Amino acid sequence: KRVGILISGRGSNMQSLVRAAGDAYQVVLVASDKADAAGLAWAVEQGIATFSHPGPRAQREAAFDAAMRDKGVDVIALAGHMQILSGDFVSRWAGRMLNIHPSLLPLYKGLDTHARAIEAGDAEAGCSVHVVTEELDAGEVLGQARVPILPGDTADSLAERVLAVEHSLYPRILAEFVKR
Ligand code: GRF
Repeated sequence: KRVGILISGRGSNMQSLVRAAGDAYQVVLVASDKADAAGLAWAVEQGIATFSHPGPRAQREAAFDAAMRDKGVDVIALAGHMQILSGDFVSRWAGRMLNIHPSLLPLYKGLDTHARAIEAGDAEAGCSVHVVTEELDAGEVLGQARVPILPGDTADSLAERVLAVEHSLYPRILAEFVKR
């Protein structure tokens, strides 16, 4: 299957998806709403087609959609893409778009997930790969990975621990998903 990835910044999850590509899927396009996303430069170095469109949502989504179709993309993986997608875009890719979210959904949809988990006194945090639906962070959860919250954790130290398990979870779940 042909996978297109949408990022906004660092792109460490995108890198883990690219490194794990093989028989199950290939990454054929990395696109960003930010032209200076660090992940785009890395993708260029790997020889992957890249695309950025910093414009307003309607134009940006139309450009993403056209670029993905042009590359024959079967499945879109959101990886640190920090823009909320319109219902129109989501419906065009319904059942063919995944996201990774840094919480144990349905807990902590939206932003600041790690600070909220620490604040709540949770013993565990983690990440979830889910199908993207119009409602934010609410689609079917396909897989989760858990880490402990340790005494003295800050949002940053917890984010680092969660990110390490994101990097193994996302490629595994994407590979399973494209075989469905
Ligand atoms: C990750 O924690 C991801 O779960 C969240 O945003 C972060 C993106 O990091 N959606 P990166 O760009 O993949 O390094």
